Amino acid sequence: MKILVLGSGAREHAIVKALAAENAGHELVCAPGNSGIAADARCLPLDITDPQAVLSFVTESGYDLVVVGPEAPLVAGVADPLRERGIPVFGPGKAAAQLEGSKTFAKRIMSAAGVPTGGATRVDSVEGAAAVLDEYGAPYVIKADGLAAGKGVLVTEDRVAALEHVEFWIRHGEVLIEEFLDGPEVSLFFLADGHNVLPLSPAQDYKRIFDNDEGPNTGGMGAYSPLPWLDEGFVAEVTETVAIPTVRQLEAEGTPFIGLLYCGLILPEAGIRVIEFNARFGDPETQVVLPRLDSPLSAALLAAATGTLSAHEPLDVAEDVAVTVVLASENYPESPVTGRELTGLVEAAAVPGVQLVHAATEERDGRWFATGGRVLSVVARAESFAAARERAYEAIALIGLEGGQFRTDIAERVA
Ligand code: AMP
Ligand code: GLY
Repeated sequence: MKILVLGSGAREHAIVKALAAENAGHELVCAPGNSGIAADARCLPLDITDPQAVLSFVTESGYDLVVVGPEAPLVAGVADPLRERGIPVFGPGKAAAQLEGSKTFAKRIMSAAGVPTGGATRVDSVEGAAAVLDEYGAPYVIKADGLAAGKGVLVTEDRVAALEHVEFWIRHGEVLIEEFLDGPEVSLFFLADGHNVLPLSPAQDYKRIFDNDEGPNTGGMGAYSPLPWLDEGFVAEVTETVAIPTVRQLEAEGTPFIGLLYCGLILPEAGIRVIEFNARFGDPETQVVLPRLDSPLSAALLAAATGTLSAHEPLDVAEDVAVTVVLASENYPESPVTGRELTGLVEAAAVPGVQLVHAATEERDGRWFATGGRVLSVVARAESFAAARERAYEAIALIGLEGGQFRTDIAERVA
C-alpha cells in the first residue's frame, strides 16, 4: 500500500515504525515528519493544518490510505475533503473531532449516550467559578474547553491558583469545573469505523514531569502496556459502556467518528469514568501499544477508514510487555531549552529490545540536535516489566543531552 502519515512527532514515528515492521513492502510517506522518521519513511514538507494543501498533496500523488496523527489537523478539518473524494482516511472529520476539540461537546455526547463521566459545570465568569469551586470542594479540577496543548487542565488544592487558571482561560473561551475523581488512570484506544470499534491493548501514561507524580502536567513522560492489574473484563466493559455508545451517538447525529477513539479513563471506587476523549493516538502510549500489535496495522486502519471493521478479526497482541521513557529538554514543560546536541543515539538503539522513537530531533551533518520539549521516546520490550525497565533505562543512560530530563519510576510498581 502507498500510505501517507500526517504529523511530525513520536506518535507518528511509532505509527510509521509499526507500518514498516509489517515488512509488506508499503510505500511510506510522512508529512512533514522529522529527521528520525526519515530513517523509516520518505518525509516531505506540508502544512498539515491546511485542508486544501493536504487535499492537493494527496490527490497529486495518490495514496491508498491517509493516517492523520495529531489533533490540530483533525480539528482543522483535513479529513473531510479527502473523505468526500473517496480517499480512505483514518481520522475523524472536523465535526466528530470536536470530541477532543471541545470538552463541553464531549460532555454533551457522553450525557446523550449515557457514558459514565464525572460531574462538570460550565462557568463564564470568575465570580461564578468561585461558587462552583466551593460547591465541588478541593481538590479543584479546572479545564479550558478547547485545544490547549496539555496546558488547559489544572488539578490543584490551591483555590487562588484555581481561580487564576479560570481567569486566564476564560479569555480564550469556555471553562469547565469538574468533580475530582480519584483512582488509577488508563488509556484505552479503539479503532472506529463510524459504527463499530476494535480495542487495542490498554496502556498507562505518566502525566507529571517528576517522579512520584510530582510537578506540572506534561504531554506524557512515559508509559507501559499491558496493564496486568486490570480486571479480565475491563476492555469488554469499556467497549460496551463507553466506546460503542459514543460512536453510535456520533453516528446518530450525522457526524460519524472514523479514526482513533482515545478513551482517557479513571477508575474510582464507584467504577469506570471517562475523564477525556481524544480523537487520535496518544503520545507516549502509542509507543508501547503499537509495537506489541501482531496483526498488520495497515489492514486494521484501512478497515476502519473504509467502514469494514465488522469483517476484521480481533487484533492479535504479543505476550511480552513494553515500557517507554520520554527524554525531555531542560525546563520542559514551562519553556524548554532547544537546540542542544544529542549524543549516543546509535549506542542506545543497539540495546537489545530497544527502539528510539523521535519526537523533536534534527540531524545536521551526522550530528543530532533536540528541537522541542519532548525529544524522543526510548521504547523497550521484554518478557517482564523488570527486564523492559532495565533495558529502557540502560538505553536512556547512553544518550547525552545537557539538561535533559526523564522520570526514573516508569512502570516501577507494576506487579
Ligand atoms: P485531561 O487533559 O483531561 O486528560 O487531564 C489531564 C490530567 O488531569 C488527567 O490525566 C488526570 O490526571 C487529571 N484529571 C483530569 N480530570 C480529572 C478529574 N476530573 N479528576 C481527577 N483528575 C483529573
Ligand atoms: N498522553 C496523553 C495524550 O496523548 O493526550
